[in-house]
Amino acid sequence: MTSDHSTTVRELLAFYLEAGVDCALGDEPVDRLSTPDLAPPDLAPPNIATPALAPGRPIAAKTGAAPIAATRQPSRQTATAPPRAGIAPPPDVAAEHAREAARTAPSLEALRALLEGFEGCALKFTASRLVFADGNPQARLMFVGEAPGRDEDIEGLPFVGRSGQLLNRMIAAIGLKRGDVYIANVIPWRPPGNRTPTPQETQICLPFIRRQIELVNPDVLVTLGNPSTQTLLQTREGIMKTRGRWFDYDTGARTIRAMATFHPAYLLRSPSYKRMAWHDLRAIAKALEDTEIKAEQPAST
Ligand code: URA
Repeated sequence: MTSDHSTTVRELLAFYLEAGVDCALGDEPVDRLSTPDLAPPDLAPPNIATPALAPGRPIAAKTGAAPIAATRQPSRQTATAPPRAGIAPPPDVAAEHAREAARTAPSLEALRALLEGFEGCALKFTASRLVFADGNPQARLMFVGEAPGRDEDIEGLPFVGRSGQLLNRMIAAIGLKRGDVYIANVIPWRPPGNRTPTPQETQICLPFIRRQIELVNPDVLVTLGNPSTQTLLQTREGIMKTRGRWFDYDTGARTIRAMATFHPAYLLRSPSYKRMAWHDLRAIAKALEDTEIKAEQPAST
């Protein structure tokens, strides 16, 4: 390679990086200009991956208040891994498969295994790994964000980057630790370059997060930011209107209280809204207290 050529390649890579491209889709580069015998995409035979249960991955038992991260099993694709099908089925087919599959998961461990094997969402093929959840599966308080970012994609855990650190401080502000609560995202795979998930991707992932909420069965659900709020609380209103308000969330088994608040990433950009977030957190802490008192009271006859 001449030095001119390598400078051009370096500049091109720098441009890609600037433009938000930060992950490679394959281990080997493909020079599409020098492979004239490749069939045009619309003539290539369809290679549609179907959702499937993960083959016999050992599932750690749910033990008391053990943090779920203890059972984390990263699934990063390595150079030696067999090539994946890499093409998700059409969104409506995938959403239907997701609905059927999520219903069948009897436990969080089974749900995680199911997601590890689910090939209905194209985001799986660009993400490094599944980001399922963190915290205590028996928590009374559950937070749900939008989708993992770069740090979460590397670690396989939600909210571990800068917004995660702020979330930890928000949790500490109401006298709890990260290990006391349960944290997940609507979308469990990082969208490439942190782009906004498409409505189709959200619809495909929705049955899984809904089942996750049902299995955790918290007393209070907190949606972080607009996308998670609009998706889970079925509202079209923006976060400025929805935050701090109580919603009823039907888990499928019972109705729980749900509150929307600002996403920590937004609070990092607009710290003046932390005052409102603090109000929301106090209301959340009060609701937890109230439900605890109610649970302790003997049932009236
Ligand atoms: N933002 C989210 O919505 N989720 C994460 O896990 C990290 C950042």
